[in-house]
Amino acid sequence: MTLWGELHAEPPDEHFVAFSSSFACDRRLLPFDLVGSRAWAFALARIGLLSKGDLQQIVRGLRAIGLRARKEPGWLDQHPAEDVHSFVEARLHELIGDAAWRLHTGRSRNDQVTLDVRLYVRDAVRQLMRAQADYAFELIRFAERHNEVVLPGYTHLRRAQPILLPHFALAYVEMALRDLERLAQARDRADVLPLGSGALAGTAYPVDRDRLAKSLGFAEVTDNSLDAVSDRDFIVDVLSACALGGIHLSRLCEDLILYCSEEFGFFAMGDDVSTGSSLMPQKRNPDACELVRGKSGRLVGNLDALLVLLKGLPLAYNRDLQEDKERLFDSVDTALGSLKVMRTVVGGLKVDAAKCRAAAAGGFSNATDLADYLVRKGVPFRLAHRHVSKVVRECIARGCTLETLPLARYQAICDQFGPDLPEHLTLDAVLSARTVRGGTAPLSVNVALKRAHKRVLKALAS
Ligand code: ARG
Repeated sequence: MTLWGELHAEPPDEHFVAFSSSFACDRRLLPFDLVGSRAWAFALARIGLLSKGDLQQIVRGLRAIGLRARKEPGWLDQHPAEDVHSFVEARLHELIGDAAWRLHTGRSRNDQVTLDVRLYVRDAVRQLMRAQADYAFELIRFAERHNEVVLPGYTHLRRAQPILLPHFALAYVEMALRDLERLAQARDRADVLPLGSGALAGTAYPVDRDRLAKSLGFAEVTDNSLDAVSDRDFIVDVLSACALGGIHLSRLCEDLILYCSEEFGFFAMGDDVSTGSSLMPQKRNPDACELVRGKSGRLVGNLDALLVLLKGLPLAYNRDLQEDKERLFDSVDTALGSLKVMRTVVGGLKVDAAKCRAAAAGGFSNATDLADYLVRKGVPFRLAHRHVSKVVRECIARGCTLETLPLARYQAICDQFGPDLPEHLTLDAVLSARTVRGGTAPLSVNVALKRAHKRVLKALAS
């Protein structure tokens, strides 16, 4: 018998049945479907729609289904079903007989499926937040291990100004912290009970939805049944958080791929996340980072697919919505996998401090500080900038650095240059000048490191 009874004269087309089945995908919702069904059974019993005996049987049956599915995953393959909800109902009927058919009273798969997905999202986001925090902690540890390493900071991928390695790492911690916030918001948006909305108009039985929400641990109850069965915004929020998180990871990957290349040589990736070549024996390839960078495209694609799915859908439930779950599960799996791999990548990074320092010292990365030197002597910044550009030009022509250009040459350009010049040009002086909050001076970075640690813990506890 089909779930929709005997209205239709013809049975459904075989190909269409296979085409429309979502069980291969939504079986992941099974534990949540069981929890939701149990809570619904209690809600029905509370208003006298289920006898004590039926309730007991249903609760026992649901538990048995959960146990068997866990013990024997192949069991699910033996029973083709349209979706996880019809699977549960059919198995329950096999186990307890007609009492099973009372469970769907006042409920529709439309409010059932979105309940299940909300329960899944609450759980999945918790895992994502944990993985995000673990990754952020690994970045913090990386920063602490290499507290004194100086890196070139880049703009336009041209050496710009020196920065501390922890400053670089903390930039990615900031992104991770924002991602944590976004995940927490997505979790909170999912934390609303839709059950009781029925197919679209609200259930016709006086179910205590507030009590039901409490029994399932939901913070809120939906206020409009039409919206409740068709709202997938909370999934957009998850996919959006995953997409942006993936983009952040892909940016780190790009930096690491560059910094680990022979051309840069700042870092080296651990063997456990590198691969070799089947042809070229000398190769150590950063596949882990390349894959994470590549997979971030899927995360963006999944978000895109869901937005396009929702665009122009009329109220309320439409079967199009069945397509949401593949995108959701894929994004959660991909984001979790990427975060875990990146934690390992960051944890295994080796640093060539001398090479980093030499690169940071080159490329006239202290030129801004030379202009600042003149500013402190009263020269307007724009003029100082011009003087220094001339100095750099002369250095390039002579093939020397700011440190080795004779003072007389400086003074020919601007008489404010004095013999105290060299002490303002060292890497340490350049770094230490930036004590502003959020700057790269060792003092500021140490404060930021401690703050970052606390902020990750706080975001996790939120
Ligand atoms: N499997 C469907 C989904 O995932 C839920 C079933 C609702 N089906 C329906 N014809 N009203 O969205």
